[in-house]
Amino acid sequence: MKEILEKIRAEAMEAISSSAQSLEEIRIKYLGKKGELTKVLRGMGALSAEERPVVGALANKVREDVERAIEKKSREMKEASRALALKAEKIDVTVPGERFSVAPRHPLSAVQKQMEDIFIGMGFEIAEGPEVEKSYYNFEALNTPEDHPARDIQDTFYITDDVLLRSQTSPVQIHVMEEKKPPIRVISPGRVYRADEVDATHSPLFHQCEGIVVDKGITMGDLKGTLEAFAKQMFGEGTRLRFRPHHFPFTEPSAEVDISCFVCGGKGCRVCKGEGWIEILGAGMVHPNVLRGCGIDPDVYSGFAFGMGIERIVMAKYNITDMRLLYENDVRFLKQF
Ligand code: PHE
Repeated sequence: MKEILEKIRAEAMEAISSSAQSLEEIRIKYLGKKGELTKVLRGMGALSAEERPVVGALANKVREDVERAIEKKSREMKEASRALALKAEKIDVTVPGERFSVAPRHPLSAVQKQMEDIFIGMGFEIAEGPEVEKSYYNFEALNTPEDHPARDIQDTFYITDDVLLRSQTSPVQIHVMEEKKPPIRVISPGRVYRADEVDATHSPLFHQCEGIVVDKGITMGDLKGTLEAFAKQMFGEGTRLRFRPHHFPFTEPSAEVDISCFVCGGKGCRVCKGEGWIEILGAGMVHPNVLRGCGIDPDVYSGFAFGMGIERIVMAKYNITDMRLLYENDVRFLKQF
């Protein structure tokens, strides 16, 4: 019987180390209720009284050894599979990472932000208005008569007879004056639309920045002082302004305003096209009819307004000769700013 027990141990050990069967199968086969070892133990009755404890002890020892071997093997297998998983999931921290490039501001946004900062510094607030606008706000309330050329279908995108894409930021003046009473000091940058063919200096969508100040005793001197302070911060300390008489239906008197060329200082160069001056905005004293239409008494209050094209300023500032570059969003172009 001892030989049988030794044989069982040897076989079981061999099975365990060869991994030919699963450990559970091996356990059942040798140590299970119907296993090899149990069979031997059942036959112990036939043994003599001296032999029985010896064989019993050996049988227990075999069981213990096999159990321990199974346990050990199982631990080894778990460790091996864990090591394998760790190896598979290994992260090489020395591999160079992917670089994210942080985009600079688009030149249009950068200039708009700069304008906002300058005017906020002078006590202005920022207002917004709708881009899809009632014709009342874009024209009638701005004292623009029925037969004014800007109202033509050639110039303005109509949604219906009395709803349109705003052709200027000036309607924001009206919204602001309807909502709050003087003192008013507001700028309003945003998109505007006109039925223009696309070329180097025209686009059906472009940007303006409106400004309006209404209070008691506001004069053209305040307009000039405000615009001069703006121009010096925007284009440089040496910048001078030139006011040329003009006509806008919603301001009286009205002017077109030029700045002295910030590249040549007024001598004439490529940027100012030899003029020495660059036109940047339209402005004037708010027309009494406009104030009255918003419920503000023109005998008590007066105000000035101005509107400038942001593209024109961006193009002059960065010496960009084709406006289309501003909308194509080619990174090779945008990277330069
Ligand atoms: N809205 C005018 C334009 O688009 C500019 C302007 C604004 C003129 C305010 C006077 C006062 O040309």
